[in-house]
Amino acid sequence: MQMPPLRSITSVQVLVMLVAILIWKVTVSIVWEYRNYVPPNFESDFLFGRESYFWNGYHGAFYVHLLAGPPSLMLGTVLISQSLRRRSFAWHRRLGRVQVALVLLMIAPSGLWMACYAATGAVAGVGLGLLALATATCAWCGWRSAVARRLEAHRRWMWRTFLLLCSAVVLRILGGLATVLQWDAAWLYSASIWTSWLVPLLVFEISSSSSSLVKKRTLPSNITA
Ligand code: HEM
Repeated sequence: MQMPPLRSITSVQVLVMLVAILIWKVTVSIVWEYRNYVPPNFESDFLFGRESYFWNGYHGAFYVHLLAGPPSLMLGTVLISQSLRRRSFAWHRRLGRVQVALVLLMIAPSGLWMACYAATGAVAGVGLGLLALATATCAWCGWRSAVARRLEAHRRWMWRTFLLLCSAVVLRILGGLATVLQWDAAWLYSASIWTSWLVPLLVFEISSSSSSLVKKRTLPSNITA
């Protein structure tokens, strides 16, 4: 009897799986905090001191953000999966549209609004505002390149979008580390915000420009985005 061929799992795939599990775990812990947001508990860490402006429009952006954030992270982990793309391109396309809509219509505008009220002030606010603009730009370019069937460009833009969305995870990990290390400097939050998206983006740009993993491909002409 012949053994069925075993599909070899590379160390990169294992790493990707571990990162995906980490993202899902942090996302669940973010959603667990929602018990302080619905109804709003102004004694909780995030809402403390925000009561004066919360019902003045901020609440709209806040709840849109809470609604769209977790699904966008989870969809991101599914959309970068090569196996889903290979198995069902139609599903990749459908979920991709949902992802772009979530980013362009919900996460980026609500993030931009909330950035004006960022905890600790202007440095954090500008970091979050630019993050919102960068995420929207990447999602827009990713969508346009898919429509134009430029697969390689599409892949790069959507990876950037995903990494920028993951800043929410990186930020919580950095916050957790600071708590464990009992590091409580005033500038730490602002520095973490900038670090949470600029560093992953920089690593991506450097590695993808020097990596042979990035191959030039184009979508078949019978596939529309
Ligand atoms: C990449 C685009 C994003 C931008 C620009 C953005 C922006 C912001 C801003 C400005 C705040 C308020 C921060 C403050 O006042 O100090 C915030 C809070 C929040 N964001 Fe995002 N965000 C993004 C992505 C995400 C994602 C993907 C999630 C998914 C879980 C998320 C979940 C939250 C939550 C739950 C809060 C409330 C505070 C907390 O519980 O930690 N955000 N975000």
